[in-house]
Amino acid sequence: MSEKVYPVRPEVAAAAHIDNAKYEAMYEQSVNDPDAFWGEQGKRIDWFKPYSTVKNTSFDPHNVDIRWFEDGTLNAAYNCLDRHLETRGDQVAIIWEGDDPSDSESITYRDLHERVSRFSNALKAEGVEKGDVVTLYMPMIPEAAVAMLACARIGAVHSIVFGGFSPEALAARIEGANSKVVVTSNFSLRGGKVVPLKANVDKALQNENAAASCKTVIVVNRVEQELPWVEGRDKWYEDLVAKASADCPAEEMNAEDPLFILYTSGSTGAPKGLKHTTGGYMVYASMTHEYVFDYKDGDIYWCTADVGWVTGHSYIVYGPLANGATTLMFEGVPSYPDNSRFGRVIEKHKVNQFYTAPTAIRALMQQGEDVLGDSDLSTLRILGSVGEPINPEAWEWYNRIVGDEKCPIVDTWWQTETGGIMIVPLPGATAAKPGSASRPFFGVQPALLDAEGNTLEGAVDGNLVITDSWPAQARSIWGDHERFVQTYFSTYKGVYTTGDGARRDEDGYYWITGRVDDVINVSGHRMGTAEVESALVAHPAVAEAAVVGYPHDLKGQGIYVYVTLQSGYEQSDELMKELRLHVRSEIGPIASPDLIQFAPGMPKTRSGKIMRRILRKIAEDDFGALGDTSTLADPTVVDDLIEHRMNRK
Ligand code: WT7
Repeated sequence: MSEKVYPVRPEVAAAAHIDNAKYEAMYEQSVNDPDAFWGEQGKRIDWFKPYSTVKNTSFDPHNVDIRWFEDGTLNAAYNCLDRHLETRGDQVAIIWEGDDPSDSESITYRDLHERVSRFSNALKAEGVEKGDVVTLYMPMIPEAAVAMLACARIGAVHSIVFGGFSPEALAARIEGANSKVVVTSNFSLRGGKVVPLKANVDKALQNENAAASCKTVIVVNRVEQELPWVEGRDKWYEDLVAKASADCPAEEMNAEDPLFILYTSGSTGAPKGLKHTTGGYMVYASMTHEYVFDYKDGDIYWCTADVGWVTGHSYIVYGPLANGATTLMFEGVPSYPDNSRFGRVIEKHKVNQFYTAPTAIRALMQQGEDVLGDSDLSTLRILGSVGEPINPEAWEWYNRIVGDEKCPIVDTWWQTETGGIMIVPLPGATAAKPGSASRPFFGVQPALLDAEGNTLEGAVDGNLVITDSWPAQARSIWGDHERFVQTYFSTYKGVYTTGDGARRDEDGYYWITGRVDDVINVSGHRMGTAEVESALVAHPAVAEAAVVGYPHDLKGQGIYVYVTLQSGYEQSDELMKELRLHVRSEIGPIASPDLIQFAPGMPKTRSGKIMRRILRKIAEDDFGALGDTSTLADPTVVDDLIEHRMNRK
């Protein structure tokens, strides 16, 4: 924990939407009278039919039921497009910066409205109806945002699968959501390289169950290059929109109708599709975007996330566009054409708010202080961080090298499940402590519990829970409400369990200490160790696998794998390579193991349970304090594991 405190600078407090007095007054009302608070905030978006009730929520494990603004009707795409046409039709909605620095495009609200309307009609013509799920497997091109908004416009539910996921992972998600249509692009461009995308869809649809649900693949022509084509199933995006009308009224949706599904990893089982609904999500995404980034009319806002993650949903598309903002969408990578790219883009588009991940900051940091070259960063006003705890060294570097010591840093803690930012130092209100996400956003009531579920007071460490509902919270797991209840509302009764541990200090600041379950965070990507293990045991050579995280300088956590081979298989470098490739092809490159240790035996209790605590310690190269190993069935396996450990400092 860093001891440093960076007070709010008076000029920032004076100019920001919120200063500390305002924060405290608003926060108090938000938790004491949520109906009044959110009843008022709900008006920041447009409703076809206004709501007469605000909050109707229960965290009771026998009846988890979450509804906000439940009798109101609205449309998310209408809120992101139509309602801005009169006042800002000619304002740029999306600045698209291509992989190649000479490739960029500015799309006005009027253009975007037209593109979305056309694609909405195209989807309808392909038989997509209100309530249907459309899977998007797309690169960071404007069509990704267009497709999201087109789904929202006609009341279809989008399910975005990150373009880095494998065909197997994609197939499971198409099947899980029973998706009729997949939208993709033929190829994508990243760091000057052409990456096949449609080919992965083809592979995914070799899976019978996925193919049984998906009958249409719509393909954006991103890179002119030959590719296989399935007549009748595959259709060019460009052909469909060319013949579609540009007039498509926005469907009237209930506040609690689903807007999107997004899959994320947990500690057990297959990834779960979180269900997010329309009204509360839009209100919260819009409000957090405005206050967290102190967004003001005319600002140019850039979030470097991918639309395949929740950050891209809430803070590239829905939040900013609901607010009539100019949002920048970046197709490329920070290292192409060279490491100064982020700086060049900030300079080129005069970016005011910049929101990225600690792993990206650490990668830049490694390149030295002049990594951004002579880029002019003087337009920057607010810097954001998301996805994992930001280590104080990276925070200081970000503050000094990118922010020139004049930009508040908003370290935003939240999750796919929360839909929007939950704990954050608001610029103008909250003094920053490097490494701390600090104080709750309006309406958010964090608490720390011990293992028995007792509420802990004061400066203390504990399990982070949220004691009452907030509008953007996920409502369920798609098709499996029981699993939703089990996962989030059963460990501790009456509260939402985040899965994170945290420490609260004397000033009431929260410091996220990381996951308390078997979920690891690799470069801000969340992964269930069980998922990687089940990919490994699917390989014929693997008898047993155990996966743990270990501290990694760049990625935050790296993936450390222990494998016990089937008899008849010999350990070798070849096999190691093969296992690595195997995991990549089962899940995707983000799950690629960093270190693989062949282990003749796992440390197990007499009842056969693997003691992960021991594996974690060895992976951390911190085996001096293994704790009690006397309950192990065979304590000698530990010596072998230590002797052959892969991570020697
Ligand atoms: C997990 C959620 C939030 C959108 C992107 C990730 C970790 C996220 C922070 C932060 C410390 C953080 C938590 C959380 N996390 N932001 N600012 N400080 N930890 O969403 O994939 O659902 O992952 O990421 O462990 O539970 P996600």
